[in-house]
Amino acid sequence: MKEPLRIGIAGLGTVGAGLVKLLTENDELIAARCGRRIEVVAVAARDHKKDRGFSPSRFVWFKDPVELAQSADIQVFVELIGGTEVAGQAVEAALQSGKHVVTANKALIAARGADLAALAEKWGLSLNFEAAAAGGIPIVKALREGLAGNDITRVVGILNGTCNYILTQMEETGRSFAEVLSEAQALGYAEADPTLDVGGGDTAHKLALLASLAFGTVPDMDGVYTQGIERISPIDIGFAREFGHRIKLLGIASMTPAGLEARVHPAMVPLGTPLADVMGVLNGVLTESGAAGQSVFEGRGAGGGPTASAVASDLIDIARGTRIAPFGVPSSALKTPRRANLGERQGTFYLRFDVLDKSGVLATIAKCLADMKVSIESMIQRGRAPDEKVGIVIITHDAREADVIAAIKAIEAAGAVVEPPCMIRMERL
Ligand SMILES: NC(=O)c1ccc[n+]([C@@H]2O[C@H](COP(=O)([O-])OP(=O)(O)OC[C@H]3O[C@@H](n4cnc5c(N)ncnc54)[C@H](OP(=O)(O)O)[C@@H]3O)[C@@H](O)[C@H]2O)c1
Repeated sequence: MKEPLRIGIAGLGTVGAGLVKLLTENDELIAARCGRRIEVVAVAARDHKKDRGFSPSRFVWFKDPVELAQSADIQVFVELIGGTEVAGQAVEAALQSGKHVVTANKALIAARGADLAALAEKWGLSLNFEAAAAGGIPIVKALREGLAGNDITRVVGILNGTCNYILTQMEETGRSFAEVLSEAQALGYAEADPTLDVGGGDTAHKLALLASLAFGTVPDMDGVYTQGIERISPIDIGFAREFGHRIKLLGIASMTPAGLEARVHPAMVPLGTPLADVMGVLNGVLTESGAAGQSVFEGRGAGGGPTASAVASDLIDIARGTRIAPFGVPSSALKTPRRANLGERQGTFYLRFDVLDKSGVLATIAKCLADMKVSIESMIQRGRAPDEKVGIVIITHDAREADVIAAIKAIEAAGAVVEPPCMIRMERL
């Protein structure tokens, strides 16, 4: 058997501790698969005394991740700290000192992936980040390797387990977003500051990576249109069902004649299609490619075990001597994507207007839509007593997104609504 592969792990939280556990439990199996052992020789974290389920005295302890990254004792630096500052410095230091890098850090790769990939390639090193998108689902390898012979046209994902859990609970219990969010926080499914999850930012980071892998483009976080689930109400979830749909937070990247379209927003997904059935904390990804057609992946997108599984697969590649350009094409060949204008996108839309049940209101709404050439496919009006708030729900035919938004603004300006209107895009899958 060859010499063991010596690794150093920076960050011993959910993922880092999960990785130590997995590498310990599956030591023999991994050695058999690689022809060599993967040996953790050093670790870094802030608190030496914290209980992590194993004794840190087994490993050389570093307080400073940059020092660990530069240590001559390791061949691979595993970055599991998170954030872009310390983690970025440490990853750069590791590459500069000739260490392969494995990271689960979507924020870092979305922000600096192309530069770090260039650095890794310059020194003939690996920079692997399977865990950075969809946790335990091997979607990075699927795009970079399994589907490498295809022209990939679209990637659609449920990429945030917290949001999917909240939407599932809202549907199953009829409770509000705020109620379900605080329960999720109490159960540890949502962070104390949930903004990055529920606001769509976490999904946008992951989508930026998947788009790069799919289309050979530089990760373009700023080009991802991002809208979260905070305004989704049980009313919309109920109406979605009446129309044969379910609301999911989707990350969607497609290469269109107008450029790269990358968007994160709540979307109505037809019931009976694979992503509609991805429930609870699970993640799901659908890819569309030339020869392979549609492929669907589903699994655990977060948590110590699933994320460690992805990190381990990256380590196994290095142990086996498999090295692939981090984004599938040499970093010098990554294209800067032209951004498609979302306003020009054609699609169907769910619109809900809360109005006072007075004569003329419906006519105003219909006229504003007609003025912008937005035609109505179906409509529901739930009437109550006169002068009470009622909901008018409309599904449009295919329409230009900018025209729908202009029509909504005109309806608001005409004083026809008592609450801000709700618009949810409907996605064909
Ligand atoms: N959690 C998941 O399910 C999941 C899924 C996919 C990807 N990821 C990614 O994996 C990475 C790690 O996430 P996590 O959930 O494991 O985070 P976590 O539980 O918060 O753990 C972070 C670890 O980094 C250490 N650390 C933080 N700042 C440090 C510093 N300045 N110097 C040394 N050590 C430092 C902490 O040390 P102490 O323990 O001593 O405080 C802790 O061990 C992130 O990039 C995250 O986005 C996580």
